[in-house]
Amino acid sequence: MTARQSRMEAYPRADRRLRLGFVGGGRGGQVGAWHAAGARLSNRWDIVAGALSADPATARASGRDWFLADDRIYDDYRTMAQHEAARPDGIDAVSICTPNHTHYDIARAFLEAGVNVICDKPLTTSLDEAKALMTLERDTGLVFGVTYAFAFHAMVRQARHMILAGRIGRVRQVHVEYFQEWSCLEEKPAGGELPWRQDPARVGRASAISDIGTHAFHLASYVTAEPIVELRADLHVCGPARGLEDTAFINIRLAGGAPGTLLVTQVAPGNYCALRLRVYGERGGIEWDQEKPEYLRVSSLGQPDEVIVRGKEGAMLPGVGKMSTLPSGHGEALSNAWANLYTEFAVAIEARAAKRSLPAGMLEFPTVQDGARGVNFIQAAVESHEKGGVWTPCWLT
Ligand SMILES: NC(=O)c1ccc[n+]([C@@H]2O[C@H](COP(=O)([O-])OP(=O)(O)OC[C@H]3O[C@@H](n4cnc5c(N)ncnc54)[C@H](O)[C@@H]3O)[C@@H](O)[C@H]2O)c1
Repeated sequence: MTARQSRMEAYPRADRRLRLGFVGGGRGGQVGAWHAAGARLSNRWDIVAGALSADPATARASGRDWFLADDRIYDDYRTMAQHEAARPDGIDAVSICTPNHTHYDIARAFLEAGVNVICDKPLTTSLDEAKALMTLERDTGLVFGVTYAFAFHAMVRQARHMILAGRIGRVRQVHVEYFQEWSCLEEKPAGGELPWRQDPARVGRASAISDIGTHAFHLASYVTAEPIVELRADLHVCGPARGLEDTAFINIRLAGGAPGTLLVTQVAPGNYCALRLRVYGERGGIEWDQEKPEYLRVSSLGQPDEVIVRGKEGAMLPGVGKMSTLPSGHGEALSNAWANLYTEFAVAIEARAAKRSLPAGMLEFPTVQDGARGVNFIQAAVESHEKGGVWTPCWLT
């Protein structure tokens, strides 16, 4: 396989683009635009329906922005689930891009209507709800994906496959840090309500851990291909006092015994999306930086260090070249990661509809179970902190 093998060649051919609907994602929303960009870039999806905002007027205006047909712009997601499920050309999947506390009800409404679900993280705000979604997914047989999109950068998959191939030997330690600054700036308006990310009723039991800690947890486990079995957490408020933590220092232990750290903060001035991954093994190390996503620094003891560049002919491992579209030097970034993720969701949904099985290992997208593991992690981190930072089991099997 060459670095240039396109996504369209690498996966089974589809008969048509799939039809995608959105809940959230319209004017005023942040992450919906990233989902939509990835879906469009994947060439596997047409976006045809949406309840794009909690505010009906904004939902309608946003639907027109997205060139949706008038009869497929909805004021509320329940009507959308019923109408789309009844149409012969109804949506094949819904993408949920709304605040955390709404994910459960929305996902449930679409699963019960027979529609595949793509949900943003964290999956839910309680473990009971996450487990209920796992049960519904199993009982309906529908595809349920969760958007830990950073794992879909080409060089992250390369890192995982290098580790699986034994390039650095047995993993001895892993570190993921994710630093941002935005929470230094976001103040509670005088007399107004807290932003949802700092409001326990809408974000869940933790703020920074729910928002970015879940990404760090998923990435550490995905890249090392090992469960994270236990953790101990210290939560801090380092920025404006708002109740929930904005910073967390978490020690972890992998199933194979290796220790590691997850360090997350949203009050580090000068940091925007400073997500950094470092894995060290018996014979070498691999380092990746989300703000320079096209490069992987690989070191082998006793050898000169290497920097592997995305897309260079011969640089990508077999099975990883499909994650890269443009030649090296023509920058790929987060939109391409979302396109890779939306490609894998589409391939899974097409295969299910066609009752076709796929080669083992072809798809690596995060499932509802991975989403529930993220929720379990949040709960374990909060409980560890509340008990003074004790080691706490954190892997949901
Ligand atoms: N995967 C990632 O990298 C990533 C990045 C950012 C955010 N997120 C997650 O995405 C979700 C949304 O985050 P955001 O930053 O876009 O939030 P946001 O507040 O910017 O946007 C949320 C949108 O949801 C809409 N909404 C709320 N309730 C609704 C309802 N019942 N029906 C229709 N629309 C509704 C709002 O009107 C708004 O447009 C969160 O769960 C967050 O954790 C994930």
